Order: sequence, then structure tokens, then C-alpha cells
Amino acid sequence: MSLSNEDKACLRSVWKEIGPSWPEHCPDAIYRMFLSFPSTKTYFPNFDISPGSPQIQAHGRKVADALNKAVEHIDDMPAALSDLSDKHSQELRVDPVNFKLLKHTMLVTMAANYPEILTPEVLLSLDKLMEAVSRVLISRYR
Ligand code: HEM
Repeated sequence: MSLSNEDKACLRSVWKEIGPSWPEHCPDAIYRMFLSFPSTKTYFPNFDISPGSPQIQAHGRKVADALNKAVEHIDDMPAALSDLSDKHSQELRVDPVNFKLLKHTMLVTMAANYPEILTPEVLLSLDKLMEAVSRVLISRYR
């Protein structure tokens, strides 16, 4: 499912509302991933996985910044996320299945924090955004 022009217009619009406060909520999505899908913790052996962990807070903010960048460069995500693609595909070698898990907890966290924004149509566009970002991040597996 690729992003249509309607999805892109929708995302640019809703991200004006979600984007500024997403760094505050994204750590919760990471924490939910660790709680709901414990196998994901194996990629973070040195992290303190407890509520309010400074490492999860810092990591969530970085992931939120990457999503901000993705929406800002929605027509050219592969170039904008090139470094992250190298990192996840070649250095971290995150199994692609994990991206579906993080996508799930991201969407749940968005629905919990922005219930009035997440209409079914918006949710579908956000789902496609997460798929598109994930595709870029796993595009350089060897
Ligand atoms: C939408 C999906 C994702 C985005 C946007 C994303 C974004 C990022 C960003 C921005 C960083 C920091 C890079 C740096 O400091 O140079 C990072 C690091 C990392 N990511 Fe991802 N990531 C995603 C999915 C995942 C998934 C699914 C996993 C594994 C379950 C994962 C595992 C890691 C690990 C282990 C690090 C290094 C953490 C550290 O040691 O500080 N990422 N990611």
C-alpha cells in the first residue's frame, strides 16, 4: 500500500497537530512495544526498560524526530531517511517483523492521545505512513 496524494495531503495536515507533541508521547509507544512484545527488548540489551526510563525517553524522542522528518520529506523519504536505513538494515539488522510491532504500538499510542484526530480515514493514512517508513528502513538488507 503506497501513499496516495490524498494520504500525503491528509498526513501533512494532521501532522501539524500531532507532530509538535509527538516527541512527548512517542516514548510511550516504545515502552508499550517492550511490554507487549518482549522479544523486541533483545535489540536494546543496555536499556533500562522501566516506566520513565531516561533511555526510553531519549530514544522515543529520536524516533519521533525521524517521523517528523519523514512527513516533512514525504515525497522523498528514501533520501531523507538514508542514514537510518543503513543503520537498521546493515548495522542493527533488526528483523523486519519488528517494524509491524512498533507500528502497532505507535498507532495505539496515537489513538490514545489524539482520539479526536484519529478518524478511520486518518488512521489508515497513518498506518500507510508507518508502512512506508518501515519499508525504507528495511530496504537495504543484504
Ligand atoms: C518506524 C520505525 C522506526 C524508526 C523511525 C526508528 C528510528 C530510529 C532512530 C531515529 C534511531 C537513532 C539513530 C541514531 O542515534 O543514529 C534508532 C535507533 C535504534 N533503533 Fe530504530 N526505528 C524504528 C524501528 C525500530 C525497530 C522496530 C527496532 C527493533 C525492535 C529498532 C531498533 C533500534 C535500535 C536497537 C537502535 C539503537 C538504539 C541505541 O542503542 O541507542 N528500531 N531508531
